[in-house]
Amino acid sequence: MDASPDLPPIIQGGMGVGVSGWRLARSVSRAGQLGVVSGTALDTTLVRRLEDGDEGGHLRRALEHFPIPGVVEQVLRRFFRPDGRPPATPYRLLSMHAHDAPPERQAITTLGAFVEVWLAKHGHARPVGMNLLTKLQLPNLATLYGAMLAGVDVVLMGAGIPREIPGALDRLASHEPASLTLEVAGARDGDELRTTFDPRALWSVPGAALGRPRFYAIVGGASLASMLVRKASGRVDGFVVESPLAGGHNAPPRGAPRFDALGEPIYGARDVVDPTEMAALGLPFWIAGGESHPERLVAARAAGAAGIQVGTLFAYCDESGMSPELRRQLLAAAAAGEVAVRTDARASPTGYPFKLVRWPDDPDPTAARPRVCDLGGLRSLSRTPDRRLVQRCPSEPLDAWVAKGGLPEDALGRRCLCNGLTATVGLGQVRRDGRVEPPLVTSGDALLSIGDFLRGRLRYGARDVIDWLLGRQDVHAKDA
Ligand SMILES: Cc1cc2nc3c(=O)[nH]c(=O)nc-3n(C[C@H](O)[C@H](O)[C@H](O)COP(=O)(O)O)c2cc1C
Repeated sequence: MDASPDLPPIIQGGMGVGVSGWRLARSVSRAGQLGVVSGTALDTTLVRRLEDGDEGGHLRRALEHFPIPGVVEQVLRRFFRPDGRPPATPYRLLSMHAHDAPPERQAITTLGAFVEVWLAKHGHARPVGMNLLTKLQLPNLATLYGAMLAGVDVVLMGAGIPREIPGALDRLASHEPASLTLEVAGARDGDELRTTFDPRALWSVPGAALGRPRFYAIVGGASLASMLVRKASGRVDGFVVESPLAGGHNAPPRGAPRFDALGEPIYGARDVVDPTEMAALGLPFWIAGGESHPERLVAARAAGAAGIQVGTLFAYCDESGMSPELRRQLLAAAAAGEVAVRTDARASPTGYPFKLVRWPDDPDPTAARPRVCDLGGLRSLSRTPDRRLVQRCPSEPLDAWVAKGGLPEDALGRRCLCNGLTATVGLGQVRRDGRVEPPLVTSGDALLSIGDFLRGRLRYGARDVIDWLLGRQDVHAKDA
């Protein structure tokens, strides 16, 4: 299947935290498709990997190219341990993001994004993308700027309405300050709060403009896509339209929420994407969620899509950031038909449905994990009744949540995605009692039928996924 390098038939879905890291994105892009790094929590994963000794020296190689003076030295001094962390030593923490974070803290976020994109782009000339979640508002501008300093080619954003992002990309490309309206629960009219990122507060930038990446919005359907075409603050270049079968967060069902006996949201006819409505918008689009099959790719293209976006199959390949032991356990369990994928309406602090995987070796998620909030990536802003501005998360310790005006019932069933997802890529925090944060695994429904693709194998590479999807599993073309 031929396609222009700008419109590849396969986009490898961005998978946070760290599942689609630079190794996976680089491999996929080298094979002629669009590799995408996740832009979530890249500052934390960078400093944790430095503490673990930066095996192979890849991070330090990328750090040498970071153009903003002073940042790298400070980060290496604080976090790099040449011999790794002594056993049972907790990782050091960065301060949590805040709307008025000082430039030095924003610079570390910029650095994390730069490193990931620089490594993903290294050694080839193909485009590389970055995926961010709109809802994680505070780190997004600093992350985008770091990715752009490393020459990111495409930015993909869903999980919210990324209306202000295209204009922000235009401004950041010319090193101008960019700002986003912050969602604040309980805010009154006229009580608008913005977060601003000013490259010139970090360094005296050279005059040369940066490339403005293409912007693909991730949407649940054509109505949001059409609104973005008309009302976004700048150019939208395409769409990924994602169904509720996709791994990670899902859009909630349209209409009044209904749940089945297991508490999973019930989706209906209104949640099915109509490709003809997408095609009518006149921009390229890719279909995501349960599309990872060669016949689905052919069908998507016949329906007017440029191709498909695939996550789950790539999440378990050799280049994935998921820890090798977890990948092994999960693939063996999936091949034996022993995994379950549940759309949990409560687990994510964001309030969006979130796919969770259960498998026989899963550390028991019902065993009480003491609530700790020390990464804070999913905290949201809120005004308390006495008008204080607070950041809170329904997975944080209950008394803290309630003290910030949260309702106890809204905290029920919530999981700490920040610590769980970070543990899934082998960077779980060690607690004072020696306990290590347990992993939390998300995947799409495609995991249930991964046996069709595995055909007896219990490991495979990104290249195998691409060859299979393109219907050429026995042909191994050279790297493009
Ligand atoms: C492990 C995993 C993590 C994911 N994390 C994100 C994410 O951080 N942001 C996002 O927009 N999509 C995320 N997704 C969704 C993928 O980008 C992609 O759209 C989806 O996996 C496609 O459907 P599939 O899983 O059926 O292939 C994730 C998917 C998986 C499997």
